[in-house]
Amino acid sequence: MNKLNHIAIIMDGNGRWAKKQGFLKRIVGHEEGAKRVRELTIHASNIGVKYLTLYAFSTENWKRPEGEVSFLMKLMDRYLKNELSLFLENNVRFETIGEIEKLPESLQERISYTKEKTAHFTGLTQVLAVNYGSKNEIVRAVNKAVKTGKEVDEDSFDDLLDTAGMDPVDILIRTGGDKRLSNYLLWQAAYSELFFTDTLWPDFTVEKLDEIIKVFKGVERRFGGIK
Ligand code: FPP
Repeated sequence: MNKLNHIAIIMDGNGRWAKKQGFLKRIVGHEEGAKRVRELTIHASNIGVKYLTLYAFSTENWKRPEGEVSFLMKLMDRYLKNELSLFLENNVRFETIGEIEKLPESLQERISYTKEKTAHFTGLTQVLAVNYGSKNEIVRAVNKAVKTGKEVDEDSFDDLLDTAGMDPVDILIRTGGDKRLSNYLLWQAAYSELFFTDTLWPDFTVEKLDEIIKVFKGVERRFGGIK
């Protein structure tokens, strides 16, 4: 049976969910989506997963209408404020990947505070990908390497990425029906098992995650070798 250390999720379909429910505003879908983040974090923590990495805001999402962007920034801020107690009660460490320096200052402060308060926890690490893009991450890592003047190999390059020190991604899930990676963890997903589901993110329950985990456990992972 495959060991499961790291789950990464592209949480797509919030806008369509809101429309389907008859709401006029897409942001209602983001609100509902934040509730699934909470439930899945508790569940992942309970079943012993080490990393849960969630695509909350991409480097491309700045192209959205200003109102939606600022709503998402405020939602993340509010989420972190409310969820601190959840992290404290469940031994959950909080981390981020992405260019945090370009986020609104108040959100940057909230992120730093949450990281600081949870840094010593040893259970699940919840990683929010915020202002994250894989190409941006790789270019930043290359520039770090250039500055050192030393050639890199696969292991030392890993250490220059935002995900340094994390286990490789075992399961990568995309909800919402599309089958693409959208600039998410391109390096880290080299040998991930990919799961695409039509379920919209706000409908993605703990039970649906468990179904995917069950399939993952039975997959033969050869990593390019033979069994
Ligand atoms: C994609 O759905 C989702 C996002 C760009 C944002 C993800 C944010 C959340 C799940 C909620 C907030 C998260 C936290 C951690 C508080 P979409 O809007 O592109 O949906 P659509 O494809 O139906 O339009």
